[in-house]
Amino acid sequence: MVLSNRHYTRYLIAPITLSLMVSACSTASKTSAPDNTAQSDTDDTRIVDTHSEDGIDKIGISMPTQYLERWTRDGNNLKASFEALGYEVDLHYAGNLIDTQIDAIYEMIDDGVDVLVIGAVDGLSLGKVMERAYEAGIPVVAYDRLICNTEYVSAYVSFDNYQVGRLQGEYIKNALELDKVTGKIYNIEFTAGDSVDNNARFFFDGAMDVLRPYIDKGTLNVPSGQCDFYTVSTSQWSTETANVRFQILIGSYYSGDRKLDAVLCSNDSTSIGVQDAIRDSYNGGNNVVITGQDCDVENLRRLMDGRQSMDVYKNLAYEAGVTVMVVDSLYHGEVMSQSLIDSWNLDYECVYDTQSYDNGKIVVPAFLLEPVEITSDNMVQELVDNYGTYVLSEDGSLQVAE
Ligand code: BGC
Repeated sequence: MVLSNRHYTRYLIAPITLSLMVSACSTASKTSAPDNTAQSDTDDTRIVDTHSEDGIDKIGISMPTQYLERWTRDGNNLKASFEALGYEVDLHYAGNLIDTQIDAIYEMIDDGVDVLVIGAVDGLSLGKVMERAYEAGIPVVAYDRLICNTEYVSAYVSFDNYQVGRLQGEYIKNALELDKVTGKIYNIEFTAGDSVDNNARFFFDGAMDVLRPYIDKGTLNVPSGQCDFYTVSTSQWSTETANVRFQILIGSYYSGDRKLDAVLCSNDSTSIGVQDAIRDSYNGGNNVVITGQDCDVENLRRLMDGRQSMDVYKNLAYEAGVTVMVVDSLYHGEVMSQSLIDSWNLDYECVYDTQSYDNGKIVVPAFLLEPVEITSDNMVQELVDNYGTYVLSEDGSLQVAE
């Protein structure tokens, strides 16, 4: 594919006109890149190199961490997909550190990247740097995690995060047959994600909307009493933090003959922490129903041997594909709309949603993909035969397809 020539290269922006420009453009900025136009040259004039003069079409990508399997896959997928279209890619990982991410984004803006794709470490901390991107005429796409409290985000690409939580909640409901039982009470505990990740709340709410009626009815009991989002959230989605919290929780509430029946875990990294705490500290002897999300290779292994009960699959290649569609459209000055999905002929379901993702300043137009429930029964059929994103290796485990 041939990329169109850059129609603008370098702009001179005087501070006085900048503030006018910011407010005048704020509505347009809800859905598209700011339309910067050349300003007068004064002593105070700053030169903002919005689109490099070198003819290079460069995408800056900032992923939150290289320590979790999914984000390195995201980084690789995005890089390969953009390069296949002829873009250059500058890819950074932030090691889950807010400052590292902010510094890298400033650097990419100064380097003249043309569009930014950001998986935020902390969705609330990027306001200032987003403003700088806006001033430089660089559209920003929030990748997987919403960027909050700023109007300078052009689009959001993710999965239906609420539905991820619903799948987890429904699984627990069905596994414990909560609708069928009469008079039986099951014990459940909760582990949510990082509270600075906007997704974590969506996952938790989705699951809780399924499970809360049973807590209210008394069919589900929470012996620790810990069921509000902030109490059960896990900083940085850390396996170790989830593990330590669960060891304490098991020691405090399950040391006698009380049975633990289910644990809602919002993702795979926290799920491993909980599973290992159960292995090391829980003496109940029963199979605890445990959820997850991401289909990390280690978790698929645990699904096979029964330590984890279900997982939620999010096809990261699709997420990269939709991101490329959105970025390429922004790059060519197109406005975000349903018609993008129609014209790109995606061969998978993607919903254009202009209501669900209010970031505190604007409702960010979102492109949402469908998550899929995975169990040991359907994992090979879905992940290997249907999506082809994993292969079955000789030892019977699933590995990510090259
Ligand atoms: C992602 C999950 C991931 C979690 C921890 C969330 O924002 O949507 O897929 O497990 O972050 O990295």
